[in-house]
Amino acid sequence: MPIALVVHGGAWDIPDDEVAPHRAGCRRACDAGWHVLQAGGSALDAVEAAVRVMEDDPIFDAGTGSVLNVDGIVECDAAIMDGASLRSGAVAAVQRVRDPIALARRVLASQVVLLVGAGAERFADAAGHPRCAHTDLIVPREVVRWHDVRARLAHQPRQAFERPLGEVAGRGIVAGPMGTVGAVALDAAGHLAAATSTGGTGNKPAGRVGDSPIVGSGLYADDETAACSTTGWGESIVRVVLAKTATDLVGRGMAPAAAAGAAIEILARRGGGLGGCILLDRGGRVGYAFNTPRMAHAYRCGDGPVVDGI
Ligand code: GLY
Repeated sequence: MPIALVVHGGAWDIPDDEVAPHRAGCRRACDAGWHVLQAGGSALDAVEAAVRVMEDDPIFDAGTGSVLNVDGIVECDAAIMDGASLRSGAVAAVQRVRDPIALARRVLASQVVLLVGAGAERFADAAGHPRCAHTDLIVPREVVRWHDVRARLAHQPRQAFERPLGEVAGRGIVAGPMGTVGAVALDAAGHLAAATSTGGTGNKPAGRVGDSPIVGSGLYADDETAACSTTGWGESIVRVVLAKTATDLVGRGMAPAAAAGAAIEILARRGGGLGGCILLDRGGRVGYAFNTPRMAHAYRCGDGPVVDGI
């Protein structure tokens, strides 16, 4: 069975001066996941390794470097799913965790599927999972963006000020990052896995949870069809259950490239949203699509080289 791995580093209007670090970060993440697969590791371990690299890379909206919420702090969502068992683990609105995907992996090994906020943090502490300071996750770039967004939204009605930035952007009021990172993998045993991690949307309300930790929306993996990770405006992605929509299209016989395109068309037409997805089927065929100006991504299949794009 050929091994394969795809990663994304967010679909949005990535500025020109951030293109090179986004591409390089995706390549590093792809390399990390690939080493796991090449050594005979599982697809689950590979997607976790790839996403952890991007959570640690401050260029991405996940872990360190995440966008700031309305209170000016980082709150993260992450999920991981095993295509063999359909088991998943997720955390949402979690604070002071550098590697939310690793915490989600611990949830996967537990009896529940999703822990949020203070409960997720208590679970982390009980498991001895490392915590950090709020300030460890905040980078100067996002502080500047946060002040900029708040200054611009100060002239909008109060309800606009409190909306997640992605939704505001969808109404043409202001544009901004709608990042997120993710990975899908196929291991030598023929198993698929998916993982997604995000700081969400800029200036989001405290406690706002997007699509990323929601099975079927932010990710899906089923050994009988495909694995998918999504990125973009979470509120619209949830409307069309984007990841399950994409993998179902593969299940109905579509090639991953066509299925990814069709899923993003549904996101735009029925969900009214912007975003992207990466898709990998059980034969190791890759698909990806986005309706944003850019989506950072990289992939590697079988004996081929790493391919990156944006
Ligand atoms: N897609 C990430 C979010 O909306 O939170």
